[in-house]
Amino acid sequence: MAIKELLKKGTELLKQNPNSNPRLESQVILSKLLNVDKSFLYAHGDLQVEESLQDEYFLLIDKRKNGYPLQYLLGEVEFFGYNFKVREGVLIPRADTEILVSYIIDYINDNNLMNYKLLEIGVGSGAIILSIAKNCPNGELIGVDISEEALKIAKENQDNLNVSNVTLLKSDLFEVFLNKPIKEKFDIIVSNPPYIDREEMKELQKEVQYEPQIALFGGDDGLEYYKSISADARYFLKTGGLLAFEIGLKQGESVRNILDDLGYRDISIIKDLEKRDRVVVAHKD
Ligand SMILES: C[S@@+](CC[C@H](N)C(=O)[O-])C[C@H]1O[C@@H](n2cnc3c(N)ncnc32)[C@H](O)[C@@H]1O
Repeated sequence: MAIKELLKKGTELLKQNPNSNPRLESQVILSKLLNVDKSFLYAHGDLQVEESLQDEYFLLIDKRKNGYPLQYLLGEVEFFGYNFKVREGVLIPRADTEILVSYIIDYINDNNLMNYKLLEIGVGSGAIILSIAKNCPNGELIGVDISEEALKIAKENQDNLNVSNVTLLKSDLFEVFLNKPIKEKFDIIVSNPPYIDREEMKELQKEVQYEPQIALFGGDDGLEYYKSISADARYFLKTGGLLAFEIGLKQGESVRNILDDLGYRDISIIKDLEKRDRVVVAHKD
């Protein structure tokens, strides 16, 4: 079969998945398999593709048709201009999370934080911490996650991106620091914690069901991690230090209240381009 026929058939099949972009995704899958870019597909529509690759192509199209995430199929995703490896066992970084990353990079630059110390709780693929480290290399960054699989992938991404000032540790939230108190406190603590509540967990889009539950479920009300991290972060932040969270769209006021009750100051909710609450930041008094 020729390239253009494969694309036509792939597009038709993917139309059965309402969450897919049939034409674009069949192109992306085929170009990945042939190891060429998309422009090659346009220029060589009549080129015959060998049978074994055709079989592989239809296998991937079939998985995608049934809701398997495109990013896991491709094994990578672009985030903040960098390529991050992903596979089952780690959350696929979302474009929305770039707002949190941009905020922190601007905060470090605007405040001239030289040799800053940053902690991320729940690094996943490393998208947040590695993007910050790439853009603000004069810091010492520590990232923790409870998932060994996530840490393994984050380490691979760290190596691929050539980042040397990030230390990745296995820890249940702040646990790793409890027995071995850190010498210096952090200027910044950041987290995009699991924040989906019990009701929403029942209605997850097919694609999201392939992502690890431990990266999604935030307790009955979706706020468990905000409560716990905000309470403990007080012991690990410098005075005036920044605590920054990504939040679910309806969680702005609840997270603001959690922070307010704990005595944080200068609490702000930051919106995304569609004017939806996305990030909450606060400072330790
Ligand atoms: C929503 S994902 C965020 C991943 C990544 N930072 C991102 O933004 O793409 C939450 C992460 O928190 C981790 N996590 C869940 N419970 C944890 C805990 N008790 N301690 C540390 N990390 C935890 C999960 O394994 C997951 O990688």
